[in-house]
Amino acid sequence: MQIAGISAIVVGGTGGLGQATVRRLHEGGAKVVVADVNDEAGKALEDELGVRYVNTDAGSEESVLAAIAEAESLGPLRVSVDCHGGPAGGGRLVGKDGSPMALDAFTKTIQSYLTSSFNVLRLAAAAIAKQEPFNDEGSRGVIVQTASIAGVEGQIGQLPYSAAKGGILGMTLVAARDLSPLGIRVNTIAPGTILTPAYGKAGDQLEAYWGPQVPHPKRMGRPVEYATLVASIVENDYLNGETIRLDGALRFPPK
Ligand SMILES: NC(=O)c1ccc[n+]([C@@H]2O[C@H](COP(=O)([O-])OP(=O)(O)OC[C@H]3O[C@@H](n4cnc5c(N)ncnc54)[C@H](O)[C@@H]3O)[C@@H](O)[C@H]2O)c1
Repeated sequence: MQIAGISAIVVGGTGGLGQATVRRLHEGGAKVVVADVNDEAGKALEDELGVRYVNTDAGSEESVLAAIAEAESLGPLRVSVDCHGGPAGGGRLVGKDGSPMALDAFTKTIQSYLTSSFNVLRLAAAAIAKQEPFNDEGSRGVIVQTASIAGVEGQIGQLPYSAAKGGILGMTLVAARDLSPLGIRVNTIAPGTILTPAYGKAGDQLEAYWGPQVPHPKRMGRPVEYATLVASIVENDYLNGETIRLDGALRFPPK
């Protein structure tokens, strides 16, 4: 699939991974809708690039539909990338004082990371399904989700986040199978540690900590490396139902 001439939504599009993706798709000639809750950063991207920003809560049907409608008004909607963040609860399953992890630490994290991802997945799929195929194989578009290597090897204290990201891994193949009659591919990127501007000055410390633990290259990833992978997923029509780790061969240790 060609990036030029399509329209795309990027949920979490003002964040570290999202913004790099917005820039990459925009440079490739797509019409991009930035769907996020950060109005200031969204408007700044609108002013700089001429993309559209729509205030969007990934967990709200009404809100995601509004972002999709905006994208549909710009051209055939063929791409949905979801890399939104949100609050995550954590801590040990049983604390040092013997008390169990609070139930809402789990349910809130599942809501913000997994249920919201499912919400974007289902609504984007239905919208892309309405587009005319762009080739004689019946292909209509692609959905990219964002998990984490913590969805496979969660660290101590990360149980809710790990469960949420593991849920996204689990949705990938079945979503691709469900959507195959509609010609919509589904792939997931599972990043390791990516250095985003959101870390600010703490980024140096993070890189000093994580960098040496990455087999090669010995550094954290860069948002542009995530965005490059998104573009490759969009362009490669045979890549479907897959989770791709983007981690320099890092495997998270227990802590
Ligand atoms: N950066 C990493 O090292 C890394 C590693 C593994 C996984 N991830 C995952 O990648 C995703 C993006 O990470 P990031 O580093 O770019 O984070 P980030 O904090 O820079 O960006 C997240 C974006 O999501 C937006 N957001 C928050 N709640 C939202 C909501 N309800 N609806 C829509 N947008 C919302 C924020 O405003 C922000 O712009 C997250 O899901 C994160 O768990 C990141």
